[in-house]
Amino acid sequence: MWGRGLLRGAKFAQLSSPSPSSPSSRPLLSAAASAAPSNLLSSQYQRGRWFGSSTANMAPVRDPNTLSNYDAWRTRHTTANLKIDFTDKCLRGSVILELESQTDKASKEIILDSSYVAVNSIKLNSAPSTWETKARTEPNGSPVHIAVPEGAAKGEVVKVEIQLATTDKCTALQWLTPAQTSNKAAPFMFSQCQAIHARSLFPCQDTPDVKSTYDFNITSPYVVVASGVPVPDETKELGEEKLYKFQQKVPIPSYLFALSSGDIASAPVGKRSCVCTGPNELKESQWELEGDMDKFLEAAEKIVFPYRWGEYNVLVLPPSFPYGGMENPIFTFATPTIISGDKQNIDVIAHELAHSWSGNLVTSCSWEHFWLNEGWTMYLERRILASIHGGDAHFDFSAIRGWKALEEAIKEYGEDHEFTKLCISHKGIDPDDAFSTVPYEKGFHFVWSLDRLVGRENFDKFIPYYFGKWSNKSLDSYEFKDTFLEFFSAPEYSDLKDKIGSIDWESRFHSTGLPPKPEFDTSLADVCYELAEKWKGKDFTPSPSDVSSWTGNQILVFLNAVQDFEQPLTVEQSQALGKAYGLIESKNAELKAAYFHIAMRSKDTSAYQGVADLLGDVGRMKFVRPLFRGLNKVDRELAIKTFEKNREFYHPICRQMVEKDLGVAA
Ligand code: BES
Ligand code: ZN
Repeated sequence: MWGRGLLRGAKFAQLSSPSPSSPSSRPLLSAAASAAPSNLLSSQYQRGRWFGSSTANMAPVRDPNTLSNYDAWRTRHTTANLKIDFTDKCLRGSVILELESQTDKASKEIILDSSYVAVNSIKLNSAPSTWETKARTEPNGSPVHIAVPEGAAKGEVVKVEIQLATTDKCTALQWLTPAQTSNKAAPFMFSQCQAIHARSLFPCQDTPDVKSTYDFNITSPYVVVASGVPVPDETKELGEEKLYKFQQKVPIPSYLFALSSGDIASAPVGKRSCVCTGPNELKESQWELEGDMDKFLEAAEKIVFPYRWGEYNVLVLPPSFPYGGMENPIFTFATPTIISGDKQNIDVIAHELAHSWSGNLVTSCSWEHFWLNEGWTMYLERRILASIHGGDAHFDFSAIRGWKALEEAIKEYGEDHEFTKLCISHKGIDPDDAFSTVPYEKGFHFVWSLDRLVGRENFDKFIPYYFGKWSNKSLDSYEFKDTFLEFFSAPEYSDLKDKIGSIDWESRFHSTGLPPKPEFDTSLADVCYELAEKWKGKDFTPSPSDVSSWTGNQILVFLNAVQDFEQPLTVEQSQALGKAYGLIESKNAELKAAYFHIAMRSKDTSAYQGVADLLGDVGRMKFVRPLFRGLNKVDRELAIKTFEKNREFYHPICRQMVEKDLGVAA
């Protein structure tokens, strides 16, 4: 179904490295950071922080990326009654927010986030209300103010019903014509709300600090998938269209709201799982996933505690999906590059599944503490995969790859850059601009360092405690610290007192640059480095057998080592490398991209068209952004031409980021 040369391959971890257009420095705020219990209002929190005792430079509000007054009102339930209109490429209908007053009649208005949404009318408790969409400011959008003239008693719930339609500036949706799908049978659409794009679907409290249950009532002429449990008996025929219902009874933050619709077929892949994708891709997707889904779930449940969401399904999207995977509850959304015909690339699924605990149950309260989602998820992903694939050497091999990606990201930003911190100030910052490998790998290294400090047996008891304590809540780094200290203050851990006292939390949270480097078990990586060493000699003759028994990830580690040579390979060497190891015609996007970076560094002009072709086949930002930056350095004209040619193919978020990277943003 998906077309555009479905790519195979792509093994995990390295995310796109930072954007050179990101601000290189920003004024530091002097707000102090002290722990605030999660039930505190953000205004109290604000004061707590401001007068606290430590010296972090975080924004003095709990979430600087929302304009909503969620300290005064909190969304408890959301009903989305939306029609998917493929003709006008928009969602239209109503969204009902049930908001609980947090104060005793002190707040006379509800402020919601919005971004390029057309609001037609708003009712408050079923009566027309006074409301206004205020002017847009970047990066947080246009707040919608709704008057609540009488206010509401603390604990009272008011209903806000908003009639709306998304616009063509919506950043959360991509619409594909039938011609852009592989079986050409139907149009297709999907959403991507993380980090702050839910507000471009409908006005809401678009902060990970607020969690709501959901009812989805979605009308479409084609099959619908959403981040809730399908309510099958209630699917209703409405002439050409059908009403699809889903429920999400576990409270979730707005960024996990997700929808997709098109010619979608489904097949079972495990006891609690199915895979959904285009009919043409169904068999291969089923084959890729069916052996591992149950194993992943069982391994994760052993490490944390039983899966709480009911089903765990995967929707394999068209190649323009801008991420490797997105942990939308019930349905992980995934790039088709993981369907590689060799089961080598499904660690992305272990990662997204792990988010069912880290991120989806226990959530960072703002994008400043994003490492709590991604660092913990990298840790759980590596634990899950090590438990299935044979232990520590595998865990360390993956960690070595992550360390390399972290080194590269920090080198590119500069080691003093704000975005190299574990906790990143987001005041005035769009989370998409701050996104990089850093929270993933620096976060992973922090969690792993705590594991090594207290010992695996003790840490394994902390894991379910932490995820149990914070289930259905959101927290910041200081609340994490408090939870860790609280757990290990129990008498049975008294012998760990000195070790725990030695943790320099402030430095871990707020230092720029690399964290302390651990000792890795390099047994699986050594062969890769040895081969790279041979390539330093100019008279080395490569042979396919050098790598024929290796995993894709081992070849990647080798290619990364070559990329790091002080001197680039000569054009002849680079071409020999591509030919001998089958990299030029590889179906694995990850390997192909790594090879092209080497070729571009060698100024092998014969490879540039291959780069341009790859940029027309995949829309995953992890590949697209670095490849465009590389091509832009060696052949700007081709880079711009390639971007213009594929502009409509890319997801709006990817399009926007590449425009910034190439310096062609409006
Ligand atoms: N939640 C992320 C994707 C994301 C992050 C989307 C921030 C928007 C904003 C997802 O879990 C993720 O990390 N995906 C990775 C997978 C990899 C680390 C295995 C990706 O897309 O490459
Ligand atoms: Zn993730």
